Amino acid sequence: MGMRIKLLVGTMTGTAELVAQEVQQTLQNGGHEAEVLMMDGVGIDVFGRGGVFIVCTSTHGYGDIPDNAVEFFETLERRRPRLDNVVYGVIALGDGTYGENFCKAGARFDELLSKLGARRAGKPLQHDANSGDVPEEVATQWVAEWVQEHLGSDGAA
Ligand SMILES: Cc1cc2nc3c(=O)[nH]c(=O)nc-3n(C[C@H](O)[C@H](O)[C@H](O)COP(=O)(O)O)c2cc1C
Repeated sequence: MGMRIKLLVGTMTGTAELVAQEVQQTLQNGGHEAEVLMMDGVGIDVFGRGGVFIVCTSTHGYGDIPDNAVEFFETLERRRPRLDNVVYGVIALGDGTYGENFCKAGARFDELLSKLGARRAGKPLQHDANSGDVPEEVATQWVAEWVQEHLGSDGAA
C-alpha cells in the first residue's frame, strides 16, 4: 500500500528543491503519494496530524539553516509541539570543506524533531557537494531504500 509522504524543503540556491522534486518522482513511481512543500510556505501545523516526512535541507553561512526555513525552525523551537505521531527522514545537503559545519542544518533539524518526540527512520543522508556525486541521483537511490527498509510494504512505520 502506498504511503503519504511530505517533503519539507530548506534551500538557498534551489538544489534541495530540485532534489526534493526528484525524490517525489521516485516515490510516486513507487506507488506513494508525495508532496513537496517549501518551508516558508507552511506553518508548523503541517505536523498536526502526524505522518511521514522527509526534511530536505541544505546548509548555508557557517552551519546555518537556509533563509526560507529559519522561521519554521524557530517556531518549532519556540512552541515545542509534541510530535509523537511523526516519523521522519533527513536528506542533508552540504559541503565537506565546511568541516564541523558539514550538513549542520540537517543535523539541527534532526536533533530538534527528535527532541519533540518525532521518530527518525534510518540514518540521515548527507550529500557532499565537494564529492562530485550528483545530489538528486544519490537522494533518489537513498529514498528508494529508505521507504522499503523503514516504512515497510504494509505501510507500518
Ligand atoms: C555561502 C555558502 C555557505 C555554505 N555553508 C555551508 C556549511 O556551513 N556547511 C555545509 O555543509 N555546506 C555549506 N554550503 C554548501 C551548500 O549547503 C551546498 O552547496 C548545497 O548543495 C546547496 O544547496 P541549496 O542550493 O539547496 O541551498 C554552503 C554554500 C554556500 C554557497
